[in-house]
Amino acid sequence: MAKRIDVSGLSAFYGTHKAIDDISMTVEPHSVTAFIGPSGCGKSTFLRTLNRMHEVTPGGRVEGKVLLDDENLYGPGVDPVAVRRTVGMVFQRPNPFPTMSIFENVAAGLRLNGGHRRQDLSDIVERSLRGANLWNEVKDRLHKPGSGLSGGQQQRLCIARAIAVEPEVLLMDEPCSALDPISTLAIEDLIGELKERFTIVIVTHNMQQAARVSDRTAFFNLAAVGQPGKLIEIDETDRIFSNPSVQATEDYISGRFG
Ligand SMILES: Nc1ncnc2c1ncn2[C@@H]1O[C@H](COP(=O)(O)OP(=O)(O)O)[C@@H](O)[C@H]1O
Ligand SMILES: [Mg+2]
Repeated sequence: MAKRIDVSGLSAFYGTHKAIDDISMTVEPHSVTAFIGPSGCGKSTFLRTLNRMHEVTPGGRVEGKVLLDDENLYGPGVDPVAVRRTVGMVFQRPNPFPTMSIFENVAAGLRLNGGHRRQDLSDIVERSLRGANLWNEVKDRLHKPGSGLSGGQQQRLCIARAIAVEPEVLLMDEPCSALDPISTLAIEDLIGELKERFTIVIVTHNMQQAARVSDRTAFFNLAAVGQPGKLIEIDETDRIFSNPSVQATEDYISGRFG
């Protein structure tokens, strides 16, 4: 089941440095939301607050609330490890475990959860690889190292690993920035399919990509270097790219800065 994300008054810090300030937004289930904005405006930081990864950085601290449906991820007694299972993440550089086989890479997250019988494990691995549009390319080499795949295949392997534990939300931080155009289109197609099952948030540098894959787009910006990043506006993607409400958004999408 995909879940709704409801963020209110969220700020994030690295030690005393405030990286993002007072962000509020909602993300509907079964939708894709793109985060755009110039480098350093806090897109990655904000994304990592949505699954409690930010606090893993020394000095990393958060104020505010993130509700997943009705549960505050920062509420007392919430287990951050369970949060990271519910809200999965795919990173910029494909990062399969290099010494593990393709099969083991997908099974890795499941084994941590424990309690899967061998046949169940193979079924879930197959289902996840099919879900990531990778099965046909790897079904004859499941026990070869994941590192032998192309960059685009490795990224789909990481997506298979992320969806194997059946999260509710998938966060992707510039998942195509290390990929060639063909592999990028394969991931974009996949994102369109994955939103049937998950709530998806993607950070992208590529404006065309945001326009192609997302339903809603959030524009972030910095008032000045050293200032925290802020959410400037969030709206339907068509609206952001045709008739945004804020001049800074218009300037950014038309390539005047960033
Ligand atoms: N590990 C870190 N330690 C300290 N500051 C960081 C760290 N990561 C990011 N920052 C700072 O947080 C701000 C936002 O960075 P980031 O979230 O990476 O922006 P974006 O993804 O939009 O490029 C920047 O000022 C950056 O220098
Ligand atoms: Mg970033």
